Amino acid sequence: FSNLRGRGVWRYSQAIAGNYKKIISINEGGTPLIRTRTGKEVYFKFEGANPTGSFKDRGMTVAISSAVNEGYKIVVAASTGNTAASAAAYSARAGLRIYLVLPKDKVAIGKLAQSILYGATILEVEGSFDIGMKAVIKLYKEMGLVYPLNSFNPWRLEGQKTIAYEITEEIGVPDYVFVPVGNAGNIYAIWKGFSELMNLGIIDRIPRMVGVQAEGASPIAKAIINNQEAPQFVENPETIATAIRIGKPVNWKKAMKAIKESQGTAIYVNDAEIMEAQRELARTEGIGAEPASVASFAGYKKAIEQGWVDRDNKVVMILTGHSLKDPDSMIRSSARRIVVNPDHLENIILGDLNASS
Ligand code: F0G
Repeated sequence: FSNLRGRGVWRYSQAIAGNYKKIISINEGGTPLIRTRTGKEVYFKFEGANPTGSFKDRGMTVAISSAVNEGYKIVVAASTGNTAASAAAYSARAGLRIYLVLPKDKVAIGKLAQSILYGATILEVEGSFDIGMKAVIKLYKEMGLVYPLNSFNPWRLEGQKTIAYEITEEIGVPDYVFVPVGNAGNIYAIWKGFSELMNLGIIDRIPRMVGVQAEGASPIAKAIINNQEAPQFVENPETIATAIRIGKPVNWKKAMKAIKESQGTAIYVNDAEIMEAQRELARTEGIGAEPASVASFAGYKKAIEQGWVDRDNKVVMILTGHSLKDPDSMIRSSARRIVVNPDHLENIILGDLNASS
Protein backbone atom coordinates (compact mmCIF):
# COMPACT_ATOMS: atom_id res chain seq x y z
CA PHE A 1 0.00 0.00 0.00
CA SER A 2 2.92 2.32 0.64
CA ASN A 3 3.22 3.75 -2.88
CA LEU A 4 -0.46 4.49 -3.39
CA ARG A 5 -1.64 8.06 -3.78
CA GLY A 6 -4.81 9.99 -3.06
CA ARG A 7 -7.74 8.69 -1.08
CA GLY A 8 -10.99 6.95 -1.86
CA VAL A 9 -11.89 4.37 -4.48
CA TRP A 10 -9.42 5.50 -7.16
CA ARG A 11 -6.50 5.27 -4.76
CA TYR A 12 -6.68 1.58 -5.69
CA SER A 13 -6.98 2.13 -9.46
CA GLN A 14 -4.23 -0.43 -10.15
CA ALA A 15 -6.53 -3.10 -8.76
CA ILE A 16 -9.68 -1.93 -10.56
CA ALA A 17 -10.18 -3.78 -13.83
CA GLY A 18 -10.81 -1.84 -17.06
CA ASN A 19 -9.24 1.07 -18.89
CA TYR A 20 -10.73 4.47 -18.28
CA LYS A 21 -9.98 7.42 -20.52
CA LYS A 22 -12.29 9.48 -18.37
CA ILE A 23 -13.26 8.92 -14.75
CA ILE A 24 -16.54 10.20 -13.28
CA SER A 25 -15.87 10.71 -9.59
CA ILE A 26 -17.42 12.67 -6.72
CA ASN A 27 -14.63 11.71 -4.27
CA GLU A 28 -16.32 8.55 -3.03
CA GLY A 29 -14.76 6.09 -0.58
CA GLY A 30 -12.17 6.83 2.08
CA THR A 31 -14.94 6.54 4.66
CA PRO A 32 -14.27 6.64 8.41
CA LEU A 33 -13.55 3.42 10.25
CA ILE A 34 -14.88 4.30 13.70
CA ARG A 35 -13.70 2.35 16.73
CA THR A 36 -16.29 1.50 19.36
CA ARG A 37 -16.21 3.73 22.42
CA THR A 38 -15.44 0.70 24.60
CA GLY A 39 -11.94 0.56 23.14
CA LYS A 40 -12.29 -3.04 21.96
CA GLU A 41 -11.09 -3.93 18.47
CA VAL A 42 -14.60 -3.45 17.15
CA TYR A 43 -15.14 -1.02 14.31
CA PHE A 44 -17.90 0.55 12.27
CA LYS A 45 -17.16 1.29 8.62
CA PHE A 46 -19.40 4.29 8.09
CA GLU A 47 -20.42 4.22 4.44
CA GLY A 48 -22.97 6.93 5.15
CA ALA A 49 -20.06 9.35 4.67
CA ASN A 50 -20.04 8.78 0.90
CA PRO A 51 -21.20 11.62 -1.40
CA THR A 52 -24.80 10.39 -1.68
CA GLY A 53 -24.80 8.72 1.74
CA SER A 54 -24.31 5.04 0.94
CA PHE A 55 -21.68 2.51 -0.19
CA LYS A 56 -23.30 2.48 -3.63
CA ASP A 57 -21.14 5.44 -4.67
CA ARG A 58 -18.03 3.24 -4.68
CA GLY A 59 -19.46 1.03 -7.38
CA MET A 60 -21.24 3.80 -9.21
CA THR A 61 -18.06 5.76 -9.96
CA VAL A 62 -16.64 2.68 -11.71
CA ALA A 63 -19.87 1.66 -13.47
CA ILE A 64 -20.67 5.15 -14.74
CA SER A 65 -17.06 5.67 -15.85
CA SER A 66 -17.34 2.41 -17.74
CA ALA A 67 -20.68 3.44 -19.33
CA VAL A 68 -19.13 6.72 -20.48
CA ASN A 69 -16.04 5.01 -21.90
CA GLU A 70 -18.22 2.56 -23.80
CA GLY A 71 -20.22 5.42 -25.29
CA TYR A 72 -23.59 4.84 -23.62
CA LYS A 73 -25.98 7.78 -23.31
CA ILE A 74 -28.81 6.13 -21.35
CA VAL A 75 -28.57 4.21 -18.08
CA VAL A 76 -31.16 2.31 -16.07
CA ALA A 77 -31.36 0.79 -12.59
CA ALA A 78 -33.89 -1.01 -10.41
CA SER A 79 -33.49 -0.01 -6.80
CA THR A 80 -34.76 -0.02 -3.26
CA GLY A 81 -33.48 3.57 -3.15
CA ASN A 82 -29.77 3.90 -2.53
CA THR A 83 -28.60 2.61 -5.89
CA ALA A 84 -31.14 5.03 -7.37
CA ALA A 85 -29.80 8.07 -5.51
CA SER A 86 -26.22 7.19 -6.33
CA ALA A 87 -26.88 6.35 -9.98
CA ALA A 88 -28.80 9.60 -10.39
CA ALA A 89 -25.94 11.69 -8.97
CA TYR A 90 -23.21 10.06 -11.06
CA SER A 91 -25.35 10.15 -14.21
CA ALA A 92 -25.93 13.85 -13.66
CA ARG A 93 -22.20 14.44 -13.39
CA ALA A 94 -21.57 12.37 -16.53
CA GLY A 95 -24.38 14.00 -18.52
CA LEU A 96 -26.25 10.71 -19.01
CA ARG A 97 -29.99 10.23 -19.12
CA ILE A 98 -31.21 7.98 -16.31
CA TYR A 99 -34.35 5.90 -15.70
CA LEU A 100 -34.93 4.44 -12.26
CA VAL A 101 -37.33 1.58 -11.57
CA LEU A 102 -38.54 1.80 -7.97
CA PRO A 103 -41.05 -0.19 -5.88
CA LYS A 104 -43.94 2.23 -5.40
CA ASP A 105 -44.33 3.54 -1.81
CA LYS A 106 -41.47 1.34 -0.56
CA VAL A 107 -38.53 3.68 -1.00
CA ALA A 108 -37.39 5.70 2.02
CA ILE A 109 -38.17 9.37 1.58
CA GLY A 110 -34.58 10.64 1.71
CA LYS A 111 -33.59 8.39 -1.18
CA LEU A 112 -36.59 9.33 -3.27
CA ALA A 113 -35.89 12.99 -2.60
CA GLN A 114 -32.28 12.58 -3.77
CA SER A 115 -33.33 10.84 -6.98
CA ILE A 116 -35.73 13.71 -7.69
CA LEU A 117 -33.09 16.33 -6.90
CA TYR A 118 -30.50 14.79 -9.25
CA GLY A 119 -33.03 14.83 -12.08
CA ALA A 120 -33.74 11.16 -12.76
CA THR A 121 -36.88 9.89 -14.47
CA ILE A 122 -38.62 7.76 -11.86
CA LEU A 123 -40.66 4.76 -12.95
CA GLU A 124 -42.65 3.26 -10.09
CA VAL A 125 -43.86 -0.34 -10.15
CA GLU A 126 -46.35 -2.08 -7.89
CA GLY A 127 -44.77 -4.82 -5.78
CA SER A 128 -41.24 -5.49 -4.66
CA PHE A 129 -37.79 -4.57 -5.92
CA ASP A 130 -37.54 -8.03 -7.51
CA ILE A 131 -40.21 -7.13 -10.08
CA GLY A 132 -38.28 -4.01 -11.05
CA MET A 133 -35.05 -5.99 -11.23
CA LYS A 134 -36.59 -8.51 -13.60
CA ALA A 135 -37.91 -5.71 -15.80
CA VAL A 136 -34.47 -4.08 -15.97
CA ILE A 137 -32.77 -7.33 -16.96
CA LYS A 138 -35.33 -7.83 -19.72
CA LEU A 139 -34.98 -4.24 -20.91
CA TYR A 140 -31.23 -4.43 -21.10
CA LYS A 141 -31.27 -7.73 -22.95
CA GLU A 142 -33.80 -6.39 -25.48
CA MET A 143 -32.47 -2.84 -25.82
CA GLY A 144 -28.70 -2.88 -26.16
CA LEU A 145 -28.52 0.89 -25.92
CA VAL A 146 -29.37 1.10 -22.24
CA TYR A 147 -26.63 0.47 -19.73
CA PRO A 148 -27.69 -1.36 -16.52
CA LEU A 149 -26.40 -0.08 -13.20
CA ASN A 150 -27.49 -2.92 -10.93
CA SER A 151 -25.01 -5.06 -9.09
CA PHE A 152 -25.00 -7.84 -11.66
CA ASN A 153 -22.91 -5.24 -13.46
CA PRO A 154 -19.37 -6.37 -12.55
CA TRP A 155 -17.99 -2.82 -12.51
CA ARG A 156 -20.14 -1.96 -9.52
CA LEU A 157 -18.51 -4.72 -7.51
CA GLU A 158 -15.02 -3.65 -8.66
CA GLY A 159 -15.60 -0.35 -6.92
CA GLN A 160 -17.25 -1.81 -3.83
CA LYS A 161 -14.34 -4.18 -3.16
CA THR A 162 -12.26 -1.17 -2.11
CA ILE A 163 -14.04 -1.38 1.27
CA ALA A 164 -11.77 -4.38 1.95
CA TYR A 165 -8.66 -2.48 0.87
CA GLU A 166 -9.42 0.46 3.13
CA ILE A 167 -10.06 -1.77 6.14
CA THR A 168 -6.84 -3.71 5.58
CA GLU A 169 -4.78 -0.60 5.09
CA GLU A 170 -6.08 0.86 8.33
CA ILE A 171 -6.29 -2.06 10.77
CA GLY A 172 -5.05 -5.19 9.00
CA VAL A 173 -7.27 -8.25 8.68
CA PRO A 174 -10.32 -8.49 10.98
CA ASP A 175 -11.58 -11.83 12.32
CA TYR A 176 -15.11 -11.11 11.14
CA VAL A 177 -16.77 -8.67 8.77
CA PHE A 178 -20.55 -8.25 9.21
CA VAL A 179 -22.39 -7.12 6.08
CA PRO A 180 -26.11 -6.37 5.53
CA VAL A 181 -27.31 -8.48 2.61
CA GLY A 182 -30.04 -7.60 0.11
CA ASN A 183 -29.34 -8.25 -3.55
CA ALA A 184 -26.11 -9.80 -2.24
CA GLY A 185 -23.50 -8.01 -4.33
CA ASN A 186 -21.69 -6.15 -1.57
CA ILE A 187 -20.72 -9.10 0.59
CA TYR A 188 -19.20 -10.76 -2.47
CA ALA A 189 -17.40 -7.57 -3.49
CA ILE A 190 -15.83 -7.15 -0.04
CA TRP A 191 -14.79 -10.82 0.04
CA LYS A 192 -13.28 -10.41 -3.45
CA GLY A 193 -11.25 -7.46 -2.18
CA PHE A 194 -9.79 -9.47 0.68
CA SER A 195 -9.19 -12.51 -1.56
CA GLU A 196 -7.27 -10.43 -4.06
CA LEU A 197 -5.04 -9.07 -1.32
CA MET A 198 -4.33 -12.61 -0.20
CA ASN A 199 -3.57 -13.75 -3.74
CA LEU A 200 -1.13 -10.86 -4.04
CA GLY A 201 0.58 -12.00 -0.83
CA ILE A 202 -0.28 -8.74 0.96
CA ILE A 203 -2.27 -10.55 3.67
CA ASP A 204 -2.03 -14.17 4.81
CA ARG A 205 -5.66 -14.83 5.75
CA ILE A 206 -9.07 -13.35 5.06
CA PRO A 207 -11.86 -12.51 7.53
CA ARG A 208 -14.94 -14.64 7.98
CA MET A 209 -17.73 -12.92 6.07
CA VAL A 210 -21.03 -12.81 7.95
CA GLY A 211 -24.11 -11.89 5.91
CA VAL A 212 -27.04 -10.41 7.83
CA GLN A 213 -30.54 -10.35 6.34
CA ALA A 214 -33.87 -9.08 7.63
CA GLU A 215 -36.05 -11.96 8.75
CA GLY A 216 -38.84 -11.20 6.27
CA ALA A 217 -36.36 -11.17 3.38
CA SER A 218 -33.80 -13.79 4.33
CA PRO A 219 -33.49 -16.45 1.61
CA ILE A 220 -29.69 -16.56 1.74
CA ALA A 221 -29.43 -16.66 5.54
CA LYS A 222 -31.95 -19.48 5.68
CA ALA A 223 -30.13 -21.45 2.97
CA ILE A 224 -26.84 -21.12 4.88
CA ILE A 225 -28.41 -21.97 8.24
CA ASN A 226 -30.23 -25.01 6.81
CA ASN A 227 -27.22 -26.13 4.82
CA GLN A 228 -29.02 -25.91 1.49
CA GLU A 229 -27.21 -25.56 -1.81
CA ALA A 230 -29.57 -22.86 -3.08
CA PRO A 231 -31.97 -20.42 -1.45
CA GLN A 232 -35.72 -20.64 -1.57
CA PHE A 233 -36.77 -17.25 -2.87
CA VAL A 234 -39.30 -15.16 -0.99
CA GLU A 235 -42.30 -14.05 -3.05
CA ASN A 236 -43.43 -11.18 -0.82
CA PRO A 237 -40.44 -9.90 1.15
CA GLU A 238 -41.32 -7.61 4.05
CA THR A 239 -39.16 -5.64 6.45
CA ILE A 240 -38.83 -2.17 7.92
CA ALA A 241 -35.33 -2.14 6.40
CA THR A 242 -36.66 -1.28 2.94
CA ALA A 243 -33.16 -1.15 1.43
CA ILE A 244 -32.86 -4.93 1.83
CA ARG A 245 -36.50 -5.80 1.19
CA ILE A 246 -35.48 -8.27 -1.52
CA GLY A 247 -36.79 -11.81 -2.01
CA LYS A 248 -34.76 -12.97 -5.00
CA PRO A 249 -31.19 -11.74 -4.62
CA VAL A 250 -29.58 -11.64 -8.07
CA ASN A 251 -26.11 -12.33 -6.67
CA TRP A 252 -27.04 -15.20 -4.34
CA LYS A 253 -24.50 -17.60 -5.84
CA LYS A 254 -21.66 -15.15 -5.43
CA ALA A 255 -22.71 -14.33 -1.88
CA MET A 256 -22.90 -17.97 -0.84
CA LYS A 257 -19.47 -18.56 -2.36
CA ALA A 258 -18.03 -15.63 -0.41
CA ILE A 259 -19.58 -16.88 2.83
CA LYS A 260 -18.46 -20.48 2.37
CA GLU A 261 -14.95 -19.81 1.10
CA SER A 262 -14.28 -17.42 3.98
CA GLN A 263 -15.68 -19.96 6.47
CA GLY A 264 -18.21 -17.36 7.44
CA THR A 265 -21.93 -17.65 7.95
CA ALA A 266 -25.24 -15.82 7.56
CA ILE A 267 -27.96 -14.96 10.01
CA TYR A 268 -31.20 -13.03 10.08
CA VAL A 269 -32.54 -10.40 12.48
CA ASN A 270 -36.11 -9.23 12.94
CA ASP A 271 -37.45 -5.69 12.58
CA ALA A 272 -37.53 -5.09 16.35
CA GLU A 273 -33.87 -6.11 16.62
CA ILE A 274 -33.02 -3.81 13.71
CA MET A 275 -34.77 -0.81 15.27
CA GLU A 276 -33.20 -1.50 18.66
CA ALA A 277 -29.76 -1.72 17.03
CA GLN A 278 -30.36 1.58 15.24
CA ARG A 279 -31.24 3.30 18.51
CA GLU A 280 -28.38 1.74 20.45
CA LEU A 281 -25.82 2.67 17.80
CA ALA A 282 -27.05 6.25 17.79
CA ARG A 283 -27.43 6.64 21.54
CA THR A 284 -24.27 4.90 22.70
CA GLU A 285 -21.83 5.40 19.81
CA GLY A 286 -23.20 8.61 18.31
CA ILE A 287 -23.45 7.04 14.85
CA GLY A 288 -26.60 7.39 12.73
CA ALA A 289 -27.30 4.69 10.16
CA GLU A 290 -30.42 3.65 8.29
CA PRO A 291 -32.25 0.44 9.30
CA ALA A 292 -30.77 -1.86 6.62
CA SER A 293 -27.30 -0.65 7.54
CA VAL A 294 -27.62 -1.53 11.18
CA ALA A 295 -28.53 -5.11 10.31
CA SER A 296 -24.77 -5.63 10.59
CA PHE A 297 -24.77 -4.33 14.18
CA ALA A 298 -27.94 -6.25 15.07
CA GLY A 299 -26.27 -9.37 13.65
CA TYR A 300 -23.11 -8.75 15.66
CA LYS A 301 -25.13 -8.37 18.85
CA LYS A 302 -26.87 -11.66 18.10
CA ALA A 303 -23.56 -13.40 17.40
CA ILE A 304 -22.18 -12.22 20.76
CA GLU A 305 -25.36 -13.39 22.48
CA GLN A 306 -25.16 -16.78 20.77
CA GLY A 307 -21.52 -17.01 21.72
CA TRP A 308 -19.86 -17.67 18.38
CA VAL A 309 -18.23 -14.25 18.31
CA ASP A 310 -16.18 -13.07 21.27
CA ARG A 311 -16.00 -9.46 22.46
CA ASP A 312 -12.23 -9.65 21.99
CA ASN A 313 -12.50 -10.65 18.35
CA LYS A 314 -11.45 -8.05 15.83
CA VAL A 315 -14.67 -7.18 14.06
CA VAL A 316 -15.76 -4.71 11.41
CA MET A 317 -19.43 -3.95 10.84
CA ILE A 318 -20.31 -2.31 7.54
CA LEU A 319 -22.82 0.49 8.08
CA THR A 320 -24.00 0.76 4.52
CA GLY A 321 -26.12 3.95 4.56
CA HIS A 322 -26.71 7.22 6.44
CA SER A 323 -29.54 7.66 8.95
CA LEU A 324 -30.90 10.67 7.02
CA LYS A 325 -31.83 8.35 4.17
CA ASP A 326 -34.87 7.24 6.14
CA PRO A 327 -36.18 9.95 8.47
CA ASP A 328 -39.42 8.03 9.07
CA SER A 329 -37.53 5.23 10.79
CA MET A 330 -35.82 7.68 13.14
CA ILE A 331 -39.07 9.39 14.06
CA ARG A 332 -40.44 6.00 15.10
CA SER A 333 -37.77 5.85 17.83
CA SER A 334 -38.85 6.48 21.39
CA ALA A 335 -38.32 10.17 22.03
CA ARG A 336 -38.53 12.60 24.92
CA ARG A 337 -40.40 15.56 23.46
CA ILE A 338 -42.05 17.95 25.87
CA VAL A 339 -44.29 20.93 25.19
CA VAL A 340 -43.07 23.74 27.46
CA ASN A 341 -43.75 27.28 28.47
CA PRO A 342 -40.68 29.08 27.05
CA ASP A 343 -40.27 31.06 30.28
CA HIS A 344 -39.89 27.94 32.39
CA LEU A 345 -37.41 25.68 30.62
CA GLU A 346 -35.47 25.36 33.88
CA ASN A 347 -38.39 23.54 35.47
CA ILE A 348 -37.74 20.53 33.26
CA ILE A 349 -34.05 20.37 34.11
CA LEU A 350 -34.60 21.03 37.80
CA GLY A 351 -37.30 18.36 37.83
CA ASP A 352 -34.84 15.88 36.28
CA LEU A 353 -32.12 16.80 38.79
CA ASN A 354 -34.53 16.30 41.69
CA ALA A 355 -35.71 12.99 40.29
CA SER A 356 -32.15 11.68 39.93
CA SER A 357 -30.90 12.87 43.35
N1 F0G B 1 -27.56 -1.68 2.87
C1 F0G B 1 -28.13 -0.68 2.19
C2 F0G B 1 -28.29 0.63 2.88
C3 F0G B 1 -28.56 -0.89 0.86
O1 F0G B 1 -29.12 0.12 0.19
C4 F0G B 1 -28.39 -2.16 0.26
C5 F0G B 1 -28.86 -2.42 -1.10
C6 F0G B 1 -27.78 -3.16 1.02
C7 F0G B 1 -27.39 -2.89 2.31
C8 F0G B 1 -27.56 -4.52 0.49
O2 F0G B 1 -26.51 -4.57 -0.43
O3 F0G B 1 -27.72 -5.56 -2.34
O4 F0G B 1 -25.25 -5.57 -2.25
O5 F0G B 1 -26.56 -7.04 -0.74
N2 F0G B 1 -29.56 -1.62 -1.77
C9 F0G B 1 -29.89 -1.84 -3.18
C10 F0G B 1 -30.48 -0.56 -3.76
C11 F0G B 1 -30.63 -3.04 -3.49
O6 F0G B 1 -31.24 -0.64 -4.74
O7 F0G B 1 -30.17 0.51 -3.28
P1 F0G B 1 -26.49 -5.76 -1.50
